[in-house]
Amino acid sequence: MAATGDGGSLLAISDLHVGHPENRTIVEGLRPRTPQDWLLVAGDVGDTVAEVEWALRLLADRFARVVWSPGNHELWTPPADPVTLRGAARYAHLVELCRGLGVVTPEDPYPVWAGPGGPVTVAPLLLLYDHSWRPDGFDTPEAALAEAYRTGIVCTDEVLLHPDPYESRSAWCAARVAETARRLAERDPALPTVLMNHWPLVREVTRVLRYPIFAQWCGTEATADWHVRFDATAVVYGHLHIPRTSWHDGVRFEEVSVGYPREWRSRGVPPGRLRRILPQPEGVPPTAW
Ligand SMILES: [Fe+2]
Ligand SMILES: [Fe+2]
Repeated sequence: MAATGDGGSLLAISDLHVGHPENRTIVEGLRPRTPQDWLLVAGDVGDTVAEVEWALRLLADRFARVVWSPGNHELWTPPADPVTLRGAARYAHLVELCRGLGVVTPEDPYPVWAGPGGPVTVAPLLLLYDHSWRPDGFDTPEAALAEAYRTGIVCTDEVLLHPDPYESRSAWCAARVAETARRLAERDPALPTVLMNHWPLVREVTRVLRYPIFAQWCGTEATADWHVRFDATAVVYGHLHIPRTSWHDGVRFEEVSVGYPREWRSRGVPPGRLRRILPQPEGVPPTAW
């Protein structure tokens, strides 16, 4: 990627998964092109609090501003992590950690990118999922989950992502969606947005999943129109480990994941490429859906 001259770029990446040594090496190589560059980090930085802190501290020291949204992996409570906090308390702990590093979180005022391609409101989100993206013929979350267990395609969240104090991850998702919609409605209406959420906002992008039944852990129908409703100029997400560009209602969606070593090794392109969100690169390849 060429430097864009004065003013810098709004860049993005996700799914760093720095518990893998090869991925730590990738993160150690991430650098801004200009002193003005911002970096959006769309979740799944690591599994333990120490891993998340290591990566975000390194990046915050290099980029003019780092903006983070948590992924499911940050919200896990892995048995090996000395930090045993669960659910919303774990998220709150990570938010405080980020604030100490100068990293912007979904709980902070939404910053405005005023560089090239701006001004836009940059909104990091935590929305989770609610099992509403179900396979055809499975009319309830319970039926979809039962089918997942029957076929052996079950997200590890079922074991490690605790919803405390909510009764379920779906209930936590509903609360996040309601609160986030309220905050987005209160933003400056004169500015378009860049929405960043670990999980995609529209179901269409999950159609390419190798195991479509996994979509029930990937998002919620509640956000199907958010890219239009909240005037997005771009939507940044990860989680699928299928990096690509697609367009929905004329809005550019960027899946910016690095993924696991076994995944990026098979792609044939150097891993850890920072994706430029703004200014919009020339000739962004639209993907037909
Ligand atoms: Fe991931
Ligand atoms: Fe994820």
